[in-house]
Amino acid sequence: MTASTVTAVIDLDLTGPTISRHVYGHFAEHLGRCVYGGFWVGEGSAIPNEGGIRLDVVEALRRIGIPNLRWPGGCFADDYHWRDGIGPRELRPRMVNSHWGDVVEDNSFGTHEFMALCELLGADPYVSGNVGSGSVREMSEWVEYLTRGDDSPMAALRRENGRDEPWRVPFWGLGNEAWGCGGNLRVEQFASLARQYATYVRDHGDNTVYRIAAGANSDDYHWTETLMRSFDDLAAPDSRAWPFQAVSLHYYTMTRGWSSKGAATGFDEEEWYLALRNATRIEELVSRHEAVMDRWDPQRKVGLVVDEWGTWWDVEPGTNPGFLYQQNTLRDALVAAVHLDTFHRHAARVVMANIAQTVNVLQAMILTDPETGALVLTPSYHVFAMNRAHHDAASLAVTFKGDVPVREVVGDHLATLSASASTRGDTALVSLSNLDARRPVTVVLDLRGRDVTSHRATVLTADALDAHNTPSTTGVAPREHAGVTDHPRGLEVELPPHAYVTVALDLA
Ligand code: AHR
Repeated sequence: MTASTVTAVIDLDLTGPTISRHVYGHFAEHLGRCVYGGFWVGEGSAIPNEGGIRLDVVEALRRIGIPNLRWPGGCFADDYHWRDGIGPRELRPRMVNSHWGDVVEDNSFGTHEFMALCELLGADPYVSGNVGSGSVREMSEWVEYLTRGDDSPMAALRRENGRDEPWRVPFWGLGNEAWGCGGNLRVEQFASLARQYATYVRDHGDNTVYRIAAGANSDDYHWTETLMRSFDDLAAPDSRAWPFQAVSLHYYTMTRGWSSKGAATGFDEEEWYLALRNATRIEELVSRHEAVMDRWDPQRKVGLVVDEWGTWWDVEPGTNPGFLYQQNTLRDALVAAVHLDTFHRHAARVVMANIAQTVNVLQAMILTDPETGALVLTPSYHVFAMNRAHHDAASLAVTFKGDVPVREVVGDHLATLSASASTRGDTALVSLSNLDARRPVTVVLDLRGRDVTSHRATVLTADALDAHNTPSTTGVAPREHAGVTDHPRGLEVELPPHAYVTVALDLA
């Protein structure tokens, strides 16, 4: 099939805002087999572990440079009482995980286990505090327990439980989905509560907490507007004087919507396009929340944290509907790629993002076999791996000249080409997604401002749209891409249908 050709102009010397590595953040909830079985197998497990934490999962996540991990939820966070998860495991009280499968949680994975996990991962902890059913005192004491160094009551309790030194906790969530499972609050009520709770999330010693108020559900711009209006003085030079430093946003991609999420595999071309059309909506959502925030904070000092995003399909047949276990295909990989493109484009405002969720739940990086323990890296994992050079790199604008291929999807338009780029020192990385199920596309990279001395391209694709990996078939993996040739303007890149390609450049 003849490929259409699109020119993408990139000025390699005109750098934009830095893409925070934290937009490559992750999320681990007490949900299904994410924590239990995914990260945590317990010290007695035959699976190699350190203090009960699976080492194969840790190593895989270290390879993609996991920058932060959000925990313990999600909806679970607003049911979680941290004191139930400290001290000798056999004495920890049990609770019902009412949101996720109505199962009994034995609290064997708690604060110390989470912090040990973050240390093994080399990731910053992002603790999601309980506003929905907790108390101000409970949250305040949790921060003190984690981060205070002297002989305060909570620091002393931490020492009794075996940890002498305080930890560093840079990120703190004030509630989760306060409009829903986090208390069914009105935004005006939540804005007041967030200010109150934030007052007691204190900076102890040299630990500075970046506080993130539970934000909007997809296109609820009124929620963002109300939170922004609740700041007294955004002109204050020291952002630590503000009640919170960021607001969050949650958006999930489904095939048709909550009532018809669609299958993770075995879908047809129509479902492919519906899902990708829904995924590309992230650009509109971020742009519009950003526009609301810009009205109150034109200097973009308040962060937007997309701390839950990704695909949400029907659970795999035969699995617990409350455990949200789903396969992950090439389609998920492209959903990830277009979200990351948006986060790169909005680097000045989007300071963090957390794909949901890291292991065995929703759009996971890693699946583990409950019987054998075998670990599978998903196509989404490979997108994160291929994009690693974007972490903390300076964003570069990618401007398409002329028309990009567009497809009509139920009265809407889906641009089937997505791209972003960044540079660091004498290197640059260009990310290119072809969302068309059947047609290849040729992209001429019109590279200006600096000379390119060499390039290496990598492709992630497969024959089938729903190609995925299992313990015995791991074929959806990045390969060297030969389809890049010199062009008078820079480089010509052939994108196969339904493919993700990165082009790494060395610059003079
Ligand atoms: O990620 C699964 C759930 O989705 C989270 O617990 C909740 O915050 C959201 O609705």
